[in-house]
Amino acid sequence: MHLKKRIAIFASGSGSNAQKIMEHFKKHNDAEVAIVLTNNADAFVLQRADNFEIPTHIFDRYEFTKTDSVVNLLKSLEVDLIVLAGFLWLIPENLLKAFPNKVINIHPALLPKYGGKGMYGDFVHKSIMENGEDESGITIHFVNEHFDEGEIIHQSKFRIEKGDDLEMVKFKGQQLEHLHYPKVIESLLKKMKSL
Ligand code: GRF
Repeated sequence: MHLKKRIAIFASGSGSNAQKIMEHFKKHNDAEVAIVLTNNADAFVLQRADNFEIPTHIFDRYEFTKTDSVVNLLKSLEVDLIVLAGFLWLIPENLLKAFPNKVINIHPALLPKYGGKGMYGDFVHKSIMENGEDESGITIHFVNEHFDEGEIIHQSKFRIEKGDDLEMVKFKGQQLEHLHYPKVIESLLKKMKSL
């Protein structure tokens, strides 16, 4: 039994959200990041995790989808919450069953708009701009067996001004993600038991 609630982060790329989460919980009294997992051995998030001296695990598609090895690892670490932060694969059923209502994701748009398979990274922001939207935002949601479809936990919005280019829209979204994801994780963990 661990004294602190334990978070596992899954990320496939840069990991700027993972960074904010690791910073937020670095000296936290009640919760900690126990491990960072990735499907991508070249992901910069691995470097970021090393900087915080947080253990990492790299898996391939076979291990993730055809074995219980990742589930067993998370169980052995007594993980309380699984946080997807730019993780690009669908979560397999064995993991969702082992951690019911304990897997969350962040999406760079106001779901259910601009979600689903293939809607990630620049594809999301390009579609938003092509459609001439005057606002966008972020969504933090529970994960189920479909891309971007679980119950919504948190949304926040920003305005898209006339002169905003792709980089500006991405930047505004990222600022909101970095601000809210650690806080939403903290409040979910608080609700899960005494924190
Ligand atoms: C974020 O925009 C997040 O919403 C999406 O993937 C991106 C990850 O960015 N799911 P980073 O790796 O945290 O910088």
